Amino acid sequence: MTKQILFSTLHMGELEQKFAQEAFDTNWIAPVGPHVDAFEREFCHIVGSSHAAALSSGTAALHLALQLIGVSPGDEVFCSTLTFIATASPITYLGAKPVFIDSDRTTWNMNPDLLREALDKRAKLGKLPKAVAIVNL
Ligand SMILES: Cc1ncc(COP(=O)(O)O)c(C=O)c1O
Repeated sequence: MTKQILFSTLHMGELEQKFAQEAFDTNWIAPVGPHVDAFEREFCHIVGSSHAAALSSGTAALHLALQLIGVSPGDEVFCSTLTFIATASPITYLGAKPVFIDSDRTTWNMNPDLLREALDKRAKLGKLPKAVAIVNL
């Protein structure tokens, strides 16, 4: 199963400002409301999924994603060295162990050769990581 979490920074245009004001005016700010429902519906439509959950932060999304794939105490999760703390902290919230795979010198992303090496080592030990949290810089 592949999970991909996307982050983006958007400029707030006139329509977004109108919706933000409407959320305050109607007191539907979080964690539910018609705009959140619409966002989840549109997200489902765009990615071709039957379900989506809008969360309050990227950290919460990573935490939930790891929980949904069953990460639990004693598991290992491979993650990038060059990242924000939110890649590693949800792993520790679940009692699992982050194992840092070093970065590629040119892309700064997780080095695929080092990832392969680490996976081969763990496979020989019969203990593959529960997940690999990749950050795409
Ligand atoms: C790679 C990466 N993962 C996760 C996060 C966490 O996002 P949030 O600050 O919304 O919890 C960030 C935030 O900068 C990030 O850069």
